Amino acid sequence: MGGGIVQPEDERFMAAAIRLSRWHTGQTSTNPSVGCVIVRDGAIVGRAVTALGGRPHAEPQALAEAGELARGATAYVTLEPCSHHGKTPPCAEALIAHGVGRIVISVTDPDVRVSGRGIAMLQAAGIEVTSGVLEEEGRQSLAGYLTRQTKNRPYVTLKLAVSADGMIGRAGVGQVAITGSEARAQVQALRAETDAILVGIGTAIADDPLLTVRTPGLEAQSPVRIVLDPALALPLTSKLVETARDVPVIVVASEEISPLGSEEGAPPSVLPDISPTRGEIDKGPAPSSPASDDDVSASRPDAGQGASTQRISPLVGGEVRSGEAGAIDPVNRSQLRTSGRTEGGTAPTDATDMDSRRTALEAAGVEILYCNPYHPEVLLPALATRGISSLLVEGGAKTAKLFLEAGFVDRIQLYQAPLVIGEGGIESPLQATDIPSGFAHRGTYIFGADRLDEYERET
Ligand SMILES: NC(=O)c1ccc[n+]([C@@H]2O[C@H](COP(=O)([O-])OP(=O)(O)OC[C@H]3O[C@@H](n4cnc5c(N)ncnc54)[C@H](OP(=O)(O)O)[C@@H]3O)[C@@H](O)[C@H]2O)c1
Repeated sequence: MGGGIVQPEDERFMAAAIRLSRWHTGQTSTNPSVGCVIVRDGAIVGRAVTALGGRPHAEPQALAEAGELARGATAYVTLEPCSHHGKTPPCAEALIAHGVGRIVISVTDPDVRVSGRGIAMLQAAGIEVTSGVLEEEGRQSLAGYLTRQTKNRPYVTLKLAVSADGMIGRAGVGQVAITGSEARAQVQALRAETDAILVGIGTAIADDPLLTVRTPGLEAQSPVRIVLDPALALPLTSKLVETARDVPVIVVASEEISPLGSEEGAPPSVLPDISPTRGEIDKGPAPSSPASDDDVSASRPDAGQGASTQRISPLVGGEVRSGEAGAIDPVNRSQLRTSGRTEGGTAPTDATDMDSRRTALEAAGVEILYCNPYHPEVLLPALATRGISSLLVEGGAKTAKLFLEAGFVDRIQLYQAPLVIGEGGIESPLQATDIPSGFAHRGTYIFGADRLDEYERET
């Protein structure tokens, strides 16, 4: 399959296609962000990246730019061209129709509807196909898509900032700026290319973070924000709740407090699986929010495994759904906020209190997902089913430890800063000296006075 001979210039042009593919990482909904470069007589005559929202794919756009010059040219594509009819015709067909002479692919598509078939279709049309060019780099650029396709979960990055004395914060004082502005700008860029960001309730309460992208021009790329919050302790006055209508917030609460009740048969496997249109959970308004016919999760036999076909909402089947206004009389909203402030994030103690908290959170636009927050092996597939391909875990200490120990971290970004926290420090669950086995050091980067070390799981 794809056994054509690698030509000397192949890596150079594939590197260009991979660079191009990164332009829209995290902004192509459930479709992969693919780069395509069309080369004729050593010159690029067409280039494209999967459009924002996931459609059109890269190949037809690059072919349109190349026009007649595509005939006999070589196309470099970071992912095997699709061979199935979705909302758009197969890219393999378009490449054949334009008379492309040779196709160079970095990564073959694990999508069961495509895998090997795109290549076979091209070869059957007499096109020479070479695959596996810069495959490692190609896989990195497609990490979210490939992880969701092959493991039915998002690609998980754990990011931690550690002080010189090994701490990630100080108890009781809220957010401590451990790194400087350059490193923080870098984290903003990482958020912008990630589908969802997750913190524990400890961090949500102590730091009251916004978890959005605030880099000018990238604000619309804020990820969906997720809080592990077993007992709905997230304060109604928190920045997360107050901005939930602008950037989606999902609270992961214990099934025990589900209005359906665990005794009513809501085991950890019962999770939302309505494959909501991405608009429900998507980062901001996508230019062309697509349906999901390109979304393999809809067709995968194991997609949504452990998930019910019902949106588990306290008001499922009722008149008000999460994200919709109306559950709370606007007049009473301020009272509810006051109630949240008074409670200061303390978990509700009785059923009535829980019900009012649940109602108030939903009225504020927060979605509540009833799923054991201590079991990433259940939560992550549920997120994948919702189209989340990449997840950034930003702490705190307990949450980071949970994901590390459960073996669900694919990449670690460890920032080390010269700041000393001293007394009252919260110890980091991870130091540069105790990176778990199975992770390879990918690089060291300097941002001002801070140092970032990146590690990636090898298997
Ligand atoms: N420097 C950094 O990179 C960084 C990043 C984020 C936060 N922080 C700092 O970290 C501190 C908070 O850390 P933390 O460990 O106290 O809080 P955390 O990890 O944010 O949240 C832990 C809390 O959430 C609950 N929880 C619910 N589901 C959980 C799960 N799946 N895994 C772990 N805990 C879960 C725990 O309840 P139980 O205790 O009942 O189990 C615990 O109360 C803050 O001071 C913050 O400033 C630093």
